[in-house]
Amino acid sequence: MKELNIMEATAYSSPNPLTLICSLNEDGTTNLAPICFVSYLSFNPPMAGFATGKQSHTGERVRKTGKAIITIPGESLADAVMACGRSTGAVTNKVAENHIEMRAVDGSRIQIPADTKLAMVATLEQTVETGDHILHICRVDQFLGAEDKKGLYAWNGFGKVAPAAEG
Ligand SMILES: Cc1cc2nc3c(=O)[nH]c(=O)nc-3n(C[C@H](O)[C@H](O)[C@H](O)COP(=O)(O)O)c2cc1C
Repeated sequence: MKELNIMEATAYSSPNPLTLICSLNEDGTTNLAPICFVSYLSFNPPMAGFATGKQSHTGERVRKTGKAIITIPGESLADAVMACGRSTGAVTNKVAENHIEMRAVDGSRIQIPADTKLAMVATLEQTVETGDHILHICRVDQFLGAEDKKGLYAWNGFGKVAPAAEG
């Protein structure tokens, strides 16, 4: 085996889980950010967590509102996901700019893309500083799934998004 740095390691662990974190902008619109630092954390109660860079707009909005919807994007969103990773919701309405069709979620002010495989409607419980990131530990209030859709994963580390083939 050869010694790797963490970026190389993420390529070796590909495909990596990929989420599109939906959060509420100050003006009430929804912001979308691709996030790979994500995991289930507990079965009972159901909990999940994701880490964002310390300066992240998404992280700031989730800490301010206490809410996020953690989604697995469907395959039609591959280009839009990468575009959402290149701009910040602090200055750009990514949903409008990338013409992403959205749908409402009952009981939430945050919308999700229409092409979503899995949505976890979440409430922030705790944050932990993890090096250059902040881990957001959330209780999942509701899981919503669409069986027929194909979810996206991150390949080459975080360089490309595409579905994963079984086997
Ligand atoms: C595939 C992929 C995975 C990413 N994973 C993370 C991550 O886990 N944490 C993070 O802070 N940023 C991650 N990013 C970068 C953010 O998506 C990017 O900085 C984005 O512009 C943040 O949007 P925001 O400023 O609206 O929050 C990732 C980008 C891509 C393309």
